[in-house]
Amino acid sequence: MSTNTAAKKADAAPPYPTRIDLAADVRAKLISVLNQHVADTFDLMSQTKYAHWNVKGRDFIGLHKLFDELAELLEGHVDQFAERVTALGGIATGTARQAAASSRVAEFSAGVYKSMDVVAALADRYAALGKTVREAIDETDELGDKDTADLFTEVSRDIDQSLYFLEAHLQG
Ligand SMILES: [Fe+2]
Repeated sequence: MSTNTAAKKADAAPPYPTRIDLAADVRAKLISVLNQHVADTFDLMSQTKYAHWNVKGRDFIGLHKLFDELAELLEGHVDQFAERVTALGGIATGTARQAAASSRVAEFSAGVYKSMDVVAALADRYAALGKTVREAIDETDELGDKDTADLFTEVSRDIDQSLYFLEAHLQG
């Protein structure tokens, strides 16, 4: 069985029982959406760390510090998504291998290291994540879980701000 299949199977498994007043089939759908975002966010967090380590150029130190702050923010989001999964009775599929197998974020280009090229590559990926997180607000709201929709709203606002911090470097 491939890792991808294993991750999907874990997603599809019936949730643990809980006293939360959301039906098991609804919780299973919410868990699937949340675990997808555990994977996407974990992946972008690791790519932001990669950028933190490998960026080069005259503006190195500012970007090195900024990328670390952005990665830390994403790490918090991974934790919030994963713990919402477990609060809903699910299994958080958040190992590095599970994240890599399921992530929809494009892999960071290995040859990119010049400061503004790195900023642009990250901006593309933050925008892509921002789009799917914004879609998840409505998706989870329509499933009747305003708490998860609120979590996605909070994360969406943070990602938009991170994207602004990145794009400001490209607009001067
Ligand atoms: Fe560091």
